[in-house]
Amino acid sequence: MAEDPDIVAEVSEKGGVGKTSLTAGLIAVAAEMGLRVGGVDLDPRSTLTDELGITDPVLSVNDIYYVDPEKPPRDPALIARDAFVPAGKGWPSNVRVLPCIRKFGNRETDATTGMEFRLKRALWGLREEVDVFFLDVPPRAGGKLVGSALIAAKKVLIPATLTDDGHDGATEAMTSIEHYTNPGGLNEGLKVSGVVRSIVPRENEYRQIHQDWSDRLVEDFGDLILPTIIRNYAIREVCRTGSMPITAAPGREAKLLQEVYREVLFHTLPHLKEKS
Ligand SMILES: Nc1ncnc2c1ncn2[C@@H]1O[C@H](COP(=O)(O)OP(=O)(O)O)[C@@H](O)[C@H]1O
Ligand SMILES: [Mg+2]
Repeated sequence: MAEDPDIVAEVSEKGGVGKTSLTAGLIAVAAEMGLRVGGVDLDPRSTLTDELGITDPVLSVNDIYYVDPEKPPRDPALIARDAFVPAGKGWPSNVRVLPCIRKFGNRETDATTGMEFRLKRALWGLREEVDVFFLDVPPRAGGKLVGSALIAAKKVLIPATLTDDGHDGATEAMTSIEHYTNPGGLNEGLKVSGVVRSIVPRENEYRQIHQDWSDRLVEDFGDLILPTIIRNYAIREVCRTGSMPITAAPGREAKLLQEVYREVLFHTLPHLKEKS
């Protein structure tokens, strides 16, 4: 019998810290292992949707969350079956996507009862078709879309750049997460897999200020800080521009990043190591 899928959310309450890049990287290396991967884009900017090679989707996460007040609510599990589409060309066929559109931003202020629970039900509806989901979560402290992801997810990864924003985004994310994981909270079983130092400057660009932020993260988050560091490699931008998985990108930098994403994947989902 198939096990329930893993559900990993990439969360920080600041933008530009590498959430979407980490999500795309994890999707790529998990797919290369032959797993059936689901990418879920919850950021109205739709960066992950673009990167996964999808333009103008017919259905999106907006259809999963939106409830027409004039009609009886539809089951998110059924909508998800129609909205879940293969990633674009360039991506392996075992990657599928719940894409996002701009309009999904309206859901942030949507007062529909129970809307935050619809994603959890949607992913449940896809449980037999997917081994692991990766959720790209928008940066908005205390927001509803973040909340819906923290209800659906089983694991959280927090990317943090060695900057003020990186540190703040991680700190605020931890506060939001605790609302859900506290005893009696909406998702007590949710685990923070760790804080990943992200877009870290390379040797000749690495200054004392970066070391100071790194020390500060280690001080504040202790054992939650992953030993693995995601460095700044220009090939990352090539992946975004070309809607290409890092596993298909050429050159030494791509190989290094793949290895790093694999380490983060195994740290988060250690049981996958046996499959590799
Ligand atoms: N390891 C990396 N090396 C170089 N550039 C990176 C790396 N990770 C992310 N970036 C770039 O930094 C910018 C912000 O990353 P992104 O993943 O979009 O962050 P977020 O989703 O948190 O807003 C993007 O242009 C992205 O391509
Ligand atoms: Mg993003």
